[in-house]
Amino acid sequence: MMAAHPWDEAAQGWNSHVAVIRSWLAEATEAMLTAARIGPGSRVLDIAAGAGDQTLDIAGRVGPQGHVLATDISAAILALADANARAAGLQQVETRVADAEALGLGGAGLDAAVCRLGLMFCRAPLSALAGVRAALRPGGRFSALVFSGPQHNPCLVTMMAVARRHAGLAPTSPFEPGTLMSLGEPGRFEHLLDAAGFVDIEAQLMSAPFHLPTSADYVAFVRSAGSPIMQMLAPLPAAAQRDAWNEMRV
Ligand SMILES: C[S@@+](CC[C@H](N)C(=O)[O-])C[C@H]1O[C@@H](n2cnc3c(N)ncnc32)[C@H](O)[C@@H]1O
Repeated sequence: MMAAHPWDEAAQGWNSHVAVIRSWLAEATEAMLTAARIGPGSRVLDIAAGAGDQTLDIAGRVGPQGHVLATDISAAILALADANARAAGLQQVETRVADAEALGLGGAGLDAAVCRLGLMFCRAPLSALAGVRAALRPGGRFSALVFSGPQHNPCLVTMMAVARRHAGLAPTSPFEPGTLMSLGEPGRFEHLLDAAGFVDIEAQLMSAPFHLPTSADYVAFVRSAGSPIMQMLAPLPAAAQRDAWNEMRV
């Protein structure tokens, strides 16, 4: 049993936006699964699986003879992944609450591991990567999707800056460990993969625009599903939180 986690609060919001998340990340997800060489019969670890959107794609690729172990630190969001997999009739999906920094899967001999938009939240990403490598068989593949740097994510930069100001937090480096763009500094992720003992390392910058009719729709998405910004504003009184979200809409 894991303790409550801040992402629990965003679980329903993330799950209810699955359609827009799916189209936002479709191309990048496909590239991630292809890079990990996931195919029929593969045994795959899905780290920080969230509500399991990419888990369902993996399950489709591995088929009934394969296996997907979907893990996440938030029991609340992983319960939604489990429910989504059951609803889709996918027996090959198993879920397990686990911190990516303490996977405890050494020697599992898995064929592949993936992580879609989760690794940057690890304060000690090298520990997480060492754990991933230990879970893979020799020749196993790992592929992950992380946010790149601030120049490619102006919307996130603006929203974080507004939230920090309203929350009375001092400006900080965009690459602060454990935050949205922590692995976005050019070369940083490749360096960590190398340090964890991975070989045949390749990084690819991909564009993944988020298509919604208005900026207000995007703010509404982040307000219910964007845990890092939700957590920043959470200590404020309701009216002050509202002011911050309203300022982000313009
Ligand atoms: C942006 S969501 C991505 C969810 C899913 N992979 C997707 O793309 O739809 C980030 C996820 O990372 C999980 N997470 C954050 N820190 C984690 C950690 N240390 N270990 C495992 N999961 C973590 C959160 O609970 C959340 O489900």
